[in-house]
Amino acid sequence: MQTVMVGLGERSYEIIISKNIIDAVGNRLKQVTAANDFYLVADDRVAGLYAERLLASIKKAGHRVELITFAHGEENKNLATIAALASKLARFGADRMSCLVALGGGVTGDITGFLAASYMRGIDFIQVPTSLLAQVDSSVGGKTGVDIPEGKNLIGAFYQPRAVFIDPLILKSLPETEFLNGIAEVIKYGVIWDRDFFSELEGKRSRIMSMDSAVLAEMIRRCCEIKAEVVAADEREGDLRRVLNFGHTIGHAVEAASRFEIAHGAAVAMGMAAAARLAVLCGHLADEEAERIMTLIVDFDLPVVIPPQLDRREIGNYLLTDKKTVGGKVFFVLPEAIGRVIITSDVSAAVIDKVL
Ligand SMILES: NC(=O)c1ccc[n+]([C@@H]2O[C@H](COP(=O)([O-])OP(=O)(O)OC[C@H]3O[C@@H](n4cnc5c(N)ncnc54)[C@H](O)[C@@H]3O)[C@@H](O)[C@H]2O)c1
Ligand SMILES: [Zn+2]
Repeated sequence: MQTVMVGLGERSYEIIISKNIIDAVGNRLKQVTAANDFYLVADDRVAGLYAERLLASIKKAGHRVELITFAHGEENKNLATIAALASKLARFGADRMSCLVALGGGVTGDITGFLAASYMRGIDFIQVPTSLLAQVDSSVGGKTGVDIPEGKNLIGAFYQPRAVFIDPLILKSLPETEFLNGIAEVIKYGVIWDRDFFSELEGKRSRIMSMDSAVLAEMIRRCCEIKAEVVAADEREGDLRRVLNFGHTIGHAVEAASRFEIAHGAAVAMGMAAAARLAVLCGHLADEEAERIMTLIVDFDLPVVIPPQLDRREIGNYLLTDKKTVGGKVFFVLPEAIGRVIITSDVSAAVIDKVL
């Protein structure tokens, strides 16, 4: 078993990473919440795979628990789903002392967190992330929220869970594209924060891809630790937290220009490769370091080239309208070396064009 503490004063909580923890969550609830009745929130897919086990574990510990589900997919991460789930909670008689349990990927975590933040002005919630992206990224840090037609994640709240329980074995049923969505974030942590971790990824690639659970558990722990460290230092997205956007500036523009046909992980991989090239052209990063970054991305079956059919002008326009653009300036997170990044807007349009 591995644990990571997210240090946020009185809102601190623990992330517990352990094989088959899903069957032991029930026994641990008393330590993290005073609640007695629980509402398990899951999308239809994950509910079909794992809800029964988690429900059994919570019931066995003597708690009351109900399952509430919604249809899977980003298109359902919206206010209508929040309203439908809130109605179900109200009809079941959920009150201020109830606790939500998010069982699923990032969509479920974001929805459940926001529901917990707003139902009766805030009730406890717990995360049991089931996608690699949720285990290494979205379940840590307390950002919750939903999409509106005008944009992704535009409605939301910072709201921390009481605990996060991660079962690496649960990833065995995850489709490969979804696994790679998480791997892109894993590579990101190596580049922005930890050179040794990056080297370990180079060495352990095949054991990661073959889902060796001990290797996965250790990898997930280090990612949670890095994100927790960044978030503890900067909970509400000041300067430091922006390092987590490495690969996401151009990545988001590519995703949007592809009308979200390109998966998040693939887009972030292209974005990280582009940022590495930008860093070389701006004189921040040595060529060999950029090569190592590209090689690792490719070794994990992720792309480094933005498909030629995507309109470069459109990508450029998306860059300018990005949420994180300040006063018309696009801020890039650029590596200075593997393990260390800077944030800069000092990148000429000509260099951006060249890289695109
Ligand atoms: N809050 C944050 O800080 C943060 C950070 C990054 C991303 N996000 C959000 O996370 C979302 C993406 O998360 P995601 O990639 O996990 O998507 P997701 O929740 O839609 O999960 C992807 C798919 O995999 C399925 N799935 C999940 N776990 C499974 C398992 N163990 N076995 C089989 N199938 C499984 C789901 O049913 C879904 O169809 C986006 O909405 C994004 O905005 C939030
Ligand atoms: Zn991401």
